[in-house]
Amino acid sequence: MALRNILIHPDPRLKKQCTPVTEVNKEIERLANDMLETMYDAPGIGLAAPQVGVTQRLLVMDCMKEEGDTPRPMVLINPEVIWESEDRSIYDEGCLSIPDQYAEVERPAEVKVRWMGLDGKPVEEQFDALWATCVQHEIDHLNGTLFIDHLKPLKRQMITRKMVKLKKEIARGRG
Ligand code: NI
Repeated sequence: MALRNILIHPDPRLKKQCTPVTEVNKEIERLANDMLETMYDAPGIGLAAPQVGVTQRLLVMDCMKEEGDTPRPMVLINPEVIWESEDRSIYDEGCLSIPDQYAEVERPAEVKVRWMGLDGKPVEEQFDALWATCVQHEIDHLNGTLFIDHLKPLKRQMITRKMVKLKKEIARGRG
């Protein structure tokens, strides 16, 4: 396994509609494992393939983030929301591609999701609480949508300006 570089917004690869994974092969397996390692290392609770520059429909997540929780690493290939609750909930969201920025986003409180596992088999599961927020946030990534796209334009622009500045600082540091 290897850590992958996480893209920072703004980046055109984070705005792409990702393509479905057609075959679960060794390359996809390696990508999923690398993404899990990268997510835990960050640390974060979710990571979508476009965030590491691969514009395919694959995400990883593990919301068992409290000390002493048993980890539950999940790999979702071609995930689709097939049902959402009318009840909504608000979470203070963040994103590994938008470091240190948080904002409240309202989403359906519960969702049922269908995807393909690494074994190529279909899976369905209903998520609530943080898991529901996380899976929706990550599926958004596969459609080129960031959590800041749910915010008012002014707030989104403010965060984007900070990220442009941050990227310049990073580039300078490395150069
Ligand atoms: Ni994100």
